[in-house]
Amino acid sequence: MHSLTQQRHLRTMLDLTPQEIETILEQAFSLKKMKDQGKPLPALLKGKNIALVFEKPSLRTKVAFEVATASLGGTAVFLPGVEIFRRADGATREKTSDIAQVLERYCDCIVARVHSHASIQDIADVASVPLINALCDGHHPTQAIADLMTIRWHKPKAKQLKVTFVGDGNNVATSLLHICAQTGLDFVHAGPPNHRIPADEWQAAEAPAQTSGSVLSFTDDPVKGITDADVVYTDTFVSMGDEAESENRLQDFAPFKVTKSLMAHAKTDAIFLHCLPAHRGEEVTDEVIDSAQSKVFDQAECRMHVAASLLAFFIH
Ligand code: CP
Ligand code: NVA
Repeated sequence: MHSLTQQRHLRTMLDLTPQEIETILEQAFSLKKMKDQGKPLPALLKGKNIALVFEKPSLRTKVAFEVATASLGGTAVFLPGVEIFRRADGATREKTSDIAQVLERYCDCIVARVHSHASIQDIADVASVPLINALCDGHHPTQAIADLMTIRWHKPKAKQLKVTFVGDGNNVATSLLHICAQTGLDFVHAGPPNHRIPADEWQAAEAPAQTSGSVLSFTDDPVKGITDADVVYTDTFVSMGDEAESENRLQDFAPFKVTKSLMAHAKTDAIFLHCLPAHRGEEVTDEVIDSAQSKVFDQAECRMHVAASLLAFFIH
């Protein structure tokens, strides 16, 4: 059913204001504190049903949203994409916008992981309940908020930070660029020129960066990119859906593998982040991801606190 009021969604990071990001983070930290102290979480989702539509595989996002929903007293319904998007012969089972208009009759929020950002837009165009983008080809906003939470956790006092993303300029890098621009963190993308974050996403980051004072740049030189970084971040070189290009990609990205010697160019107290799943030996060595500088499992934990906070923020 179409709503007369403008329904809020989280399609990309830019759907949230910097102030809203702070509110969501504050609540995420407060939920984390309760959990750490062994206290029960408030029943903010009592009586609420959350549809989890996943067209691609997931460990962290799926479990984070399911556990977050249960912890806040709600019910999650997991819908694997193979069951709802495709028929056995591979043809489309039903229109994405029809799926959304059915789910909104049962559920209070749709959390969707899809191949194409166009599907996110198709759902957002019709849904009268909030849609949360749980990853598409172009964006991964729930990840970016957890990334910022991890940075605040480990760098609580730092004002000006240099965040260097090394690798593929697709979903994770784009949402990280946006959240850095929105919250005043300097952002560098170091990667091969043929795998840059799309130009329109850099343009979209300009206005928030001007307001926050964040400095944004690209380099194809991994050493230059990492030099003096406070946060070094990488992601797989072969994202879900890019498997056919594996060979070329591994060649293009070879100089960008985060090794101990590359990491040595960052500040001595720099932290290493990775959204996971990691392809050890491809984009990062065991030595780096298993080092004391690596905060990847804290980062994975933050996914759950952020999922809870986002659901509470969007569902009324
Ligand atoms: N980082 C992340 O989104 O992990 P999953 O693909 O396992 O959900
Ligand atoms: N860029 C990766 C992120 C996985 C969480 C992918 O899309 O596969």
